[in-house]
Amino acid sequence: MILVTGATGTVGGEVVRLLAGRGERVLAMTREPAKVEESPGVEVVRGDFDDPASLAGAARGADALFLLSAPGPWAARHDEAMVAAARAEGVRKVVKVSAIGTGEEREGVTVGDWHLAGERALRSGELDWTILRPSSFASNALGWAPQVLRGQPVPNTMGDGRQGVVDPRDVAEVAVTALTSEEHVRAVLTLTGPELLSVPDMAKVLGETLGRTVETVEVPLEVYRESLIAAGVDPGFADIAVDGSRTVARGGNARLTGDVERVLGRAPRTFATWAADHRAAFVSG
Ligand SMILES: NC(=O)c1ccc[n+]([C@@H]2O[C@H](COP(=O)([O-])OP(=O)(O)OC[C@H]3O[C@@H](n4cnc5c(N)ncnc54)[C@H](OP(=O)(O)O)[C@@H]3O)[C@@H](O)[C@H]2O)c1
Repeated sequence: MILVTGATGTVGGEVVRLLAGRGERVLAMTREPAKVEESPGVEVVRGDFDDPASLAGAARGADALFLLSAPGPWAARHDEAMVAAARAEGVRKVVKVSAIGTGEEREGVTVGDWHLAGERALRSGELDWTILRPSSFASNALGWAPQVLRGQPVPNTMGDGRQGVVDPRDVAEVAVTALTSEEHVRAVLTLTGPELLSVPDMAKVLGETLGRTVETVEVPLEVYRESLIAAGVDPGFADIAVDGSRTVARGGNARLTGDVERVLGRAPRTFATWAADHRAAFVSG
């Protein structure tokens, strides 16, 4: 039995589908079970990282755990609570989604450190673990849908900085391989797509998919920070988002690895493939 956290989200939802498709028994965790439909092989369980008793209940009977916490300063607390519950309930293996650059020295920039405590909790214990450190998700481009639908330029806070944009479906497939085999125990896998892309590069690919030009507009980092705070984002969180953009703009995340191909035995999906498969999000009607 495999407990999947973040089961209603982008990566976790795909992990649930892939595991169920392989005939695995899945416990899909959410804070709101009422909003999730049961499907064959999938049992929905209530769990909230802020409610330790609920985590113990969710982990009961599970052999393995897919651990995905929502990004933010609370991720450390959430990961530690979930790992403690997994240990107490006799879970044997944990596959955790972290982020590229976690724990690496980067000129005082704290990007990625939200996942450091969770990684440490796994490394310091006796559980089998696999840590996945993905690069920027292709699905972040869904945030551009409102501008694209209105024919407006999409915001760019990263200049010409390029990243190894990864399809979250590849992250899910690697996670499922690690959850269902003994091959990647105590491995840290850095998951990237096959090519380095800037925001203007991604906009160009998206435009080619849609059959029109998608422009970008540079947003100064102070304006970006103010817009996040105006949208209700915690100032500490906003600072980290701004640091992340600055790091990317300086080329600090221009990195490709072969880990997806090594695990899956095929090349990672391109951003063009992701865009073609998500075209509907960017066209009206
Ligand atoms: N986006 C990127 O470019 C990127 C790059 C590298 C790493 N990552 C990492 O990937 C993760 C995000 O993955 P994603 O995009 O698949 O997430 P997502 O689609 O935003 O989904 C977040 C999930 O977290 C669950 N959740 C939120 N708060 C919770 C709580 N208090 N207790 C239990 N569950 C909670 C939600 O479930 P319910 O609402 O149903 O409870 C939902 O299923 C983060 O850890 C992030 O740091 C992202």
